Amino acid sequence: MFNIKTLETELLNRIACAEDLDSLEKIRIFALGKRGRITAEMKNLAAMNPQARKKTGKALNQLKCLVKNTLLARKTALSSVIMDDCILANRVDISLPVPPEMKGRIHPITQTTDEIITIFAAMGFVVVEGPDIESDYYNFEALNFTPNHPARQDQDTLYLKPDKNGERKVLRTHTSAVQIRTMEKQSPPIRIIVPGRTFRSDHDATHSPMFHQVEGLVIDKVSHMGHLKGCLIDFCQAFFGIKDLPIRFRPSYFPFTEPSAELDIGCLRIGHELKIGHYGDWLEILGSGMVHPNVLRNSGLNPSKYQGFAFGIGLERISMLKYGIPDLRPFYENNLRWMHHYGFLSFAQPTIAGGV
Ligand code: DAH
Repeated sequence: MFNIKTLETELLNRIACAEDLDSLEKIRIFALGKRGRITAEMKNLAAMNPQARKKTGKALNQLKCLVKNTLLARKTALSSVIMDDCILANRVDISLPVPPEMKGRIHPITQTTDEIITIFAAMGFVVVEGPDIESDYYNFEALNFTPNHPARQDQDTLYLKPDKNGERKVLRTHTSAVQIRTMEKQSPPIRIIVPGRTFRSDHDATHSPMFHQVEGLVIDKVSHMGHLKGCLIDFCQAFFGIKDLPIRFRPSYFPFTEPSAELDIGCLRIGHELKIGHYGDWLEILGSGMVHPNVLRNSGLNPSKYQGFAFGIGLERISMLKYGIPDLRPFYENNLRWMHHYGFLSFAQPTIAGGV
């Protein structure tokens, strides 16, 4: 004679002993599957007399419910054990030191570029890039350089061999070329900065044939010299992290700006040491000016409608000044000892101004 209590004890025991989800599924099929024990007993109900059928039917339904709930509870318990095991197995010991092969450094040029971008991005500038190999038109002509301007001469500019059409491309001597490319493509308002490599035929302790610049360009209907000054003063104070950094604008000349000014910051030389932010000497760090009407015209913009300012910053220079790097040459020598000394750790997030 079938004993429902015995079946219940057996099923609950099995469930309690199940060690993983697979065995639990087998028990579910054994109890509740098409040919399962409870299902089979349900089928037997048909042959019973009405009274027995009612009593046994009710008991079987209760058992079915109990088994289902117990299965579910065991499943939840097993799943969380599995999760715990998984977490334990994949545990990362964050207190372990970084493996030696991961001890790379961020190059000061990359670091400085990121800092400059962060500061100008906060002022609403977007980053644009241009090609390293440039045409004479974008590098010189459209920027209002006269055909015999000294900068075009071979001793300053690195030229490529003439191509099939006889055109001599240049390795761009400044990032200013991207001004024209941008104005041709995009209508004002324009507010861009252009970090990138630049090339000149120069090599000594303070000049390298390959160096970096960040160009800036603002074109709209209203920006004037006052905006230029405010923007660059804010930049210098943020970059060097010195609120009352001495700054002066000195009249200068560039073919592509009128008027033009160079920006100097105050510093004090004590022996070999250079202290930024003190009065004593002046150090030139960038060129700037109001975009020349010819440059606007060459880019397809009407100078009586649009105006704006531009600036160009030498990256190595300000990186050396900010981080006290005395010589330019090791920047490109791939010297690991130098990198370990002057480079930045990738996880050491620098502040905009203070570096690390
Ligand atoms: N292109 C100049 C250079 O390489 C730097 C410069 C000066 C850029 C004045 C400008 C500017 O945009 O307005 O020396």
